[in-house]
Order: sequence, then structure tokens, then C-alpha cells
Amino acid sequence: MRVSSLVLVLFGAGGLAFSPVGSSPGRISLGQVANPNFKKPPLAVAVAKLYRKYNKTIPEGLANAVKRHSAKLPMNRMSNGTGTAAAIPGLDDVEYLTPISIGSPPQILPLDIDTGSSDLWVFSTMTPKSMVNGQTLYNPNASTTAKFMNGSSWWIFYGDGSDGRGSVYTDVVSFGNLSFPKQAVQVAEEVSASFTRDSSNSGLLGLGFSIGNTILPEAQPTFFDNINSSLELPVFTADLMHHAPGTYNFGYIDHTAYTGNISYSPVDESHSWWMFNMSGFAIGNETFHKVQLKSIADTGSSVMMMDTRLVKMYWAQVAGAKFSTDWWGYVYPCNATLPDLVLGTNTSHTQRDQPLRIPGALMEYGYADTKGQPGVCIGGLQDGPQFNLNIIGDTALKAAFVVHEKGPVGNSRIGFANKRVRL
Ligand SMILES: *[C@@H]1O[C@H](CO)[C@@H](O)[C@H](O)[C@H]1NC(C)=O
Ligand SMILES: *[C@@H]1O[C@H](CO)[C@@H](O)[C@H](O)[C@H]1NC(C)=O
Ligand SMILES: *[C@@H]1O[C@H](CO)[C@@H](O)[C@H](O)[C@H]1NC(C)=O
Ligand SMILES: *[C@@H]1O[C@H](CO)[C@@H](O)[C@H](O)[C@H]1NC(C)=O
Ligand SMILES: *[C@@H]1O[C@H](CO)[C@@H](O)[C@H](O)[C@H]1NC(C)=O
Ligand SMILES: *[C@@H]1O[C@H](CO)[C@@H](O)[C@H](O)[C@H]1NC(C)=O
Ligand SMILES: *[C@@H]1O[C@H](CO)[C@@H](O)[C@H](O)[C@H]1NC(C)=O
Ligand SMILES: *[C@@H]1O[C@H](CO)[C@@H](O)[C@H](O)[C@H]1NC(C)=O
Ligand SMILES: *[C@@H]1O[C@H](CO)[C@@H](O)[C@H](O)[C@H]1NC(C)=O
Ligand SMILES: *[C@@H]1O[C@H](CO)[C@@H](O)[C@H](O)[C@H]1NC(C)=O
Ligand SMILES: *[C@@H]1O[C@H](CO)[C@@H](O)[C@H](O)[C@H]1NC(C)=O
Repeated sequence: MRVSSLVLVLFGAGGLAFSPVGSSPGRISLGQVANPNFKKPPLAVAVAKLYRKYNKTIPEGLANAVKRHSAKLPMNRMSNGTGTAAAIPGLDDVEYLTPISIGSPPQILPLDIDTGSSDLWVFSTMTPKSMVNGQTLYNPNASTTAKFMNGSSWWIFYGDGSDGRGSVYTDVVSFGNLSFPKQAVQVAEEVSASFTRDSSNSGLLGLGFSIGNTILPEAQPTFFDNINSSLELPVFTADLMHHAPGTYNFGYIDHTAYTGNISYSPVDESHSWWMFNMSGFAIGNETFHKVQLKSIADTGSSVMMMDTRLVKMYWAQVAGAKFSTDWWGYVYPCNATLPDLVLGTNTSHTQRDQPLRIPGALMEYGYADTKGQPGVCIGGLQDGPQFNLNIIGDTALKAAFVVHEKGPVGNSRIGFANKRVRL
């Protein structure tokens, strides 16, 4: 009873127009809900977060940009939306969260689903009050099924110089009506300021590979690995949207959600990440450059961080675009028309192989500054020379239908299809 009302809550709150409620056994459809009060962090803060997440040394210029821009960061208060500028439609997308049920009776927490990490961690009644800013808290004492995992702890790098850490419970976690009774739930005893700032977001739910889970002394399986055998197919799909809540489906592929064919690539399973090789790129309708791009699909990254040559070639096509050391990223005049970016999503180049086309209108991160520099926008494609990796973040994922398929060990794969993107 509780469970089916959860499904109604989820879809009533935002996902209704996008996907049918998953109601057959082994199939679950989860809709995101918008967090309209979210204020996007400055680019430097978002980029520094990626450096931390991928364990890269933060360059001095970036560290300085973070200091300059963090000083004026507002708190994301649900109730207070002061200081917003008139928005050009199509820019400054909000954040989307997914309500997840934990405990008995169910406690519903809005979480950020992150395919780039493997921890399920939440703000809780054990999080120091000074680090809580209106978040919905998980209270293990109020759940009859919560069990303390004595001796287990977790520690994870996220965000702006600080980290997250805490202890671990096991409890019932449910996606729609699919439950796992002993899911490791990591309760935060310390969180970084960027998480504190975001009052609507109660934590992360990682859908990476369990090998990257940070629980010590023993890593624990992700929710997906715990439920995979109950699913019709061992897959989940991510269908993020531009200026609309997206959908995560578990156990099936909704063939009405994409166009053309799905192009699959094998995945390297030795990290948290869904890591694969892209086969090249094209800018706008120019020639396709065949080049191997080691890539990671990461719904937890709002921008794309890619190969220097590709990024330079892309922004060279936009009059007035330049690298700004102040913002620590490429900026461009907001009235410019951005070219599409085409990415080769399969290395085989068969006739069926279909590259992903990201419409130019999606290639933005948002306004640089609503006061100082009117008309300056920040690109959604940035250069990450230290990464040696291409982080395929939300900029691209909003244009794609992505299939994450867990095969027998060594046989997992990731599939990309194009879809009708509503701009
Ligand atoms: C989910 O609910 C549907 C319809 O209520 C039911 O048919 C299905 O068996 C349930 N699935 C699970 C895994 O309990
Ligand atoms: C991070 O990178 C450093 C070297 O740059 C390495 O020594 C360390 O083990 C890495 N940490 C993790 C958690 O991968
Ligand atoms: C919102 O914040 C502003 C600036 O801090 C403050 O002046 C105002 O009273 C707040 N409004 C509400 C409704 O809390
Ligand atoms: C649970 O209750 C006990 C006893 O009242 C208290 O010491 C503990 O801090 C509580 N734990 C949480 C997570 O709130
Ligand atoms: C955890 O285990 C230690 C050592 O066995 C024990 O002293 C402690 O009381 C336990 N803590 C809880 C909360 O069960
Ligand atoms: C589910 O995941 C576990 C852990 O990765 C794996 O051992 C198992 O083979 C998977 N089952 C299916 C059906 O994919
Ligand atoms: C999809 O694949 C099928 C079978 O390989 C092929 O016949 C068809 O042309 C492909 N569709 C597109 C849009 O490329
Ligand atoms: C993609 O690559 C894999 C392995 O390299 C291959 O088996 C597959 O047929 C390719 N094409 C598509 C459309 O998935
Ligand atoms: C990507 O290509 C490199 C070099 O060809 C290869 O060693 C690696 O295994 C590939 N990665 C995946 C996930 O297939
Ligand atoms: C580029 O190609 C796409 C798809 O074929 C087409 O819709 C579009 O009009 C072309 N754009 C330009 C600027 O030629
Ligand atoms: C953008 O605005 C600037 C300043 O108003 C103007 O000079 C420029 O021509 C505009 N560019 C486009 C592409 O409309």
C-alpha cells in the first residue's frame, strides 16, 4: 500500500508526461522532480568538484577561481528566491532529483542519481546541525528495519575542498515497488559545503560499479547490483531532459524513448565508472574525426570535460568565445548560435553505428554573471587536460537515451541512442 502510493507521489510530482509507471514485475520507472530553487554553482566550483571526484590535482588557477567565486555563493534556500535575473529561455537549467524510499515506514528522500559513483549516502539525523540547511534527513532510529553496521565507515571526496564521511546502516530501500531489504545506506557525519548549500538535495545514489564503493573495511554492492537479479533485464536507462525532469528505468528498454538504433560499446568494469571508448567527433556538419576518446558517462557531472583538441576546435567555431581565466572555462556571447557536437558512440563503424548528435542549444552551462557581465555565457563543454579522459556529463546526456547493461563479468556495455530533444 505504502509502496504504490510512493509510485504515485513520484509520478504525480513530475515524471507523468514522460514515461509510464513501471508496473510489471521486474520493471521500474523512476521520474525525476525539478528543484526549481537550485542556484547553479559557478563553473569553477563545478569543475573543481570533478577534479576531486576523479582524483586529479587542482591547478592553481582553478583553485584561485574557486576562491574568487565561492565568496559570493548564495545558499539554495527553498523558500527564498531573491536575486534572480530575468532569464533567457533555454539557459540556466535547474537541478533534478529523484525521490527514493528508505526504511520502514518509508522515509522519502530526494536524491541525486549519479552514474559516476557507487555510494548511496544521505543526510541524516547524525549529520551535524551546522552542516544541514533544510535537507530531508534519514532517521535510522525511526525505521524498524534499520541496522547499524558496526565497524563500517565511508569516506568520499566530493566538492569544494572538503569531503563526505560517516557510518553505515543497512535498511530497506525501494525503487517503486522493487525493494531490497539490506541495502547499505551511508549516513553522513560530515558533508562538503556545496552539499550543505543545496537544501533540496538529501544525498547521492550511485549507479556506478560496486567495485568503487567506498565503505571500509568492505565495499558494499550498489542498489542496482542488489536488485539486478529481480529485474527482467539487467539494465537501467538514463533519459535526462533539457528543462524538464528526466526518467530512469530499471529492468527494460523503452523502445519508444529513442530514435534510430542503439549503438553499444564494451565497458571497462575495473572502476566505479561506466568507462568506454568513443570513436571520434564532428563539429556541426563538418567531417568526422576518427580518434579514440576514452570516456565516462556521468549523470553526476553537469558539464562535459573533454579532449583539449576537440574543445579548442569546438569553441573556435563560435565568434567571441574564449577561455576565461576568471571563470576558468570557455565563455561565449549569449546571443551566439552554438554548433552541434557529434560524438562517435561505437568504435566499429558499421552501418548501424549511429553517432550521438548534441544540439548546439544544449551546449551551454548557463549565464556567467547576472550582474557584472551581461550577455556572457559559460560553455557546457570544457577542457580537462589533466583528466586524460572525456567526462560525458549532462550537457551530452540530455541529448541521449543511455542504456547501462550489466553482463556477466567482463561483458557489461553501454549503449547510446539519439532521441527527439525538446529545446
Ligand atoms: C509491482 O507492482 C505490479 C503491479 O502492482 C505487480 O504486478 C508486480 O509484481 C510488482 N513487482 C514487484 C517486483 O513486486
Ligand atoms: C589519487 O591519485 C594519487 C596519485 O595522483 C594516488 O596516489 C592515489 O592513490 C589516488 N587515490 C585514489 C582514491 O584513487
Ligand atoms: C530572502 O533573503 C533576503 C536576503 O538575504 C532577505 O532580505 C529576505 O527577507 C528573505 N526573504 C524571505 C522570504 O525569507
Ligand atoms: C538514536 O537514538 C539514540 C538514543 O536516543 C541516540 O543516542 C542516537 O544519536 C540516535 N541516532 C540517530 C542516528 O539519530
Ligand atoms: C560496536 O562494537 C564495539 C566492539 O565490539 C562495541 O564496543 C560497541 O558498543 C558497538 N557499538 C554499537 C553501536 O553497537
Ligand atoms: C548482478 O550483479 C552481481 C554483482 O555485480 C553479479 O554477480 C550478477 O551476475 C548480476 N546478475 C545479473 C543477472 O546480471
Ligand atoms: C537500424 O538497424 C537495422 C538493422 O541492423 C537497419 O536495418 C536500420 O537501417 C538501422 N536504422 C537506422 C536508422 O540506421
Ligand atoms: C559496437 O561495437 C561492438 C563491439 O565493438 C559491436 O559488437 C557492435 O556490433 C557495434 N555496433 C553497434 C550498433 O552496437
Ligand atoms: C579502449 O581502447 C584501448 C586501446 O585500444 C583498449 O586498451 C581498451 O581496452 C578499450 N576500452 C574499452 C572499455 O574497451
Ligand atoms: C546539419 O545536419 C543536420 C542533420 O543532417 C541538418 O538537420 C542541419 O540542417 C544541418 N545544419 C547545417 C547548418 O547545415
Ligand atoms: C550579439 O550582441 C552583440 C552586442 O549587442 C552584437 O554586437 C553582436 O552582433 C550580436 N551577435 C549576434 C550573433 O547576434
